[in-house]
Amino acid sequence: MKFTFRENPNFHDVDHPLVEHKLSILRSVDTTPKQFAELAEEIALLLTYEATKNLPLEDVQVETPLETMTGKMVSGKAVGIVPILRAGLGMVSGVQKLIPNAKVGHIGLYRDHDTHEPVEYYCKLPADAEKRTIIVVDPMLATGGSASDAITMIKKRGVKKIKLCCIVSAPEGVQRVLDDHPDVEVYVAAVDRCLNENCYILPGLGDAGDRLFGTK
Ligand code: PRP
Ligand code: URA
Repeated sequence: MKFTFRENPNFHDVDHPLVEHKLSILRSVDTTPKQFAELAEEIALLLTYEATKNLPLEDVQVETPLETMTGKMVSGKAVGIVPILRAGLGMVSGVQKLIPNAKVGHIGLYRDHDTHEPVEYYCKLPADAEKRTIIVVDPMLATGGSASDAITMIKKRGVKKIKLCCIVSAPEGVQRVLDDHPDVEVYVAAVDRCLNENCYILPGLGDAGDRLFGTK
């Protein structure tokens, strides 16, 4: 497979010293579930800062203590956050720290252990999802199957503006999402080397859901 995603304008590898620093601690096998949750939240916040750079603004009148001026505010029904269960839950609070009024939907997908294909088990999106920019969050983008299916489910609800934020990605996963969804922008903190025979990212960080919730 030829990977051309680095030249794709919809692909953003968020290259920031704080992201790199936090990601190294997140990856470490010695990091506890509590630390893992805190770091996933912080990295999600930093990815959100990048992913919201082109949100539309409108003029607003602001009264300062001294005079009235024209300021800017994000226009309309701005944003919805959709974590892919389970591990995506660990990124929601980071997005909410920057966009407290964002509504939160949930998509439940798990990877079948044998086929590595995503299996859908839950979908509940905000009632006005189609009026919002939807930020899909999931720490891991491995084969890209889960993210691509989640985006397809969201599009079926009429949503036009979708962004995907992942912490660790594999080249295969990034390429798959960009190919399946040429209208979606993808933000990642890292692109790792490859997938192993079980479709886990190498070097990666292991199973993000298990590490976040301490289930293994
Ligand atoms: C993980 C991860 C992604 C998916 C990535 O979830 O959080 O959703 O795998 O793999 P893919 O790109 O190959 O589809 P998992 O299926 O382990 O479920 P969990 O979050 O409930 O543990
Ligand atoms: N899901 C994970 O949690 N980690 C991987 O490396 C791949 C899929």
